Amino acid sequence: MRTPIIAGNWKLNKTISEAVALTTALKASVADVNDVEIIVAPPFTALAAVNEVIAGSNVRLSAQDVYSEDTGAFTGEVSAPMLKDVGCEYVIIGHSERRQYFGETNESVNQKVKAALAHDLKPIICVGEQLEEREAGQTETIIENHVTGGIAGLSVTELLTCVIAYEPVWAIGTGKTATPTQAQEVHSFIRGLLTSVYSADVASQLCIQYGGSVKPENAAELMAQPDVDGALVGGASLEAESFAQIVKFG
Ligand code: 13P
Repeated sequence: MRTPIIAGNWKLNKTISEAVALTTALKASVADVNDVEIIVAPPFTALAAVNEVIAGSNVRLSAQDVYSEDTGAFTGEVSAPMLKDVGCEYVIIGHSERRQYFGETNESVNQKVKAALAHDLKPIICVGEQLEEREAGQTETIIENHVTGGIAGLSVTELLTCVIAYEPVWAIGTGKTATPTQAQEVHSFIRGLLTSVYSADVASQLCIQYGGSVKPENAAELMAQPDVDGALVGGASLEAESFAQIVKFG
């Protein structure tokens, strides 16, 4: 019922020529895949070039962040209309690295989500607990804050335009993947939250991705969990072959 969504978050990696080479190879490797939504999220500087490479293909374009205002005196920021203009269909919002290093809060995430939706961009809203929070038994409280804060005030139609990505911070870039059971527990908790805020019908339609050390070796077992509907991939998306293997998890 829910189409799997596999996205590659390239983070602070790839020059334009490297991005074009990676995307060209990826496009060829996944050309025959038609049952998965495939997304790449290059850095801002490579968006235009990658958009040219993926034209007419089954690969979609995402940015890694967006600002909440459309225009104005906000030096260094990039707005939703600009991302739409360069060919983005998706935008990652509230990644834990933005929360950790750049002061992103649930409130700023919510403002960015609304700005993206206002310009027909599909937000990929990231949520996730840190190791100390998990060890202190606070995982569900943190996830509830991130989810309800991020989607506050959205209509059903707006919510269903979003993707939620559960990324436990302790699993990002550490090689320490959440076990399929740990991922499923949190994904099911998120779907339960959405059921209480919206309805079971709405909750059942929303795609919830898992992120954190997803690799070709563990993608299938994570994706086999009933509430895991996709993956947000960092390191393993930087090479066409490993990302293509994840896309073809089935
Ligand atoms: P890694 O796959 O490198 O752990 O990164 C996950 C991530 O943060 C994707 O947004």
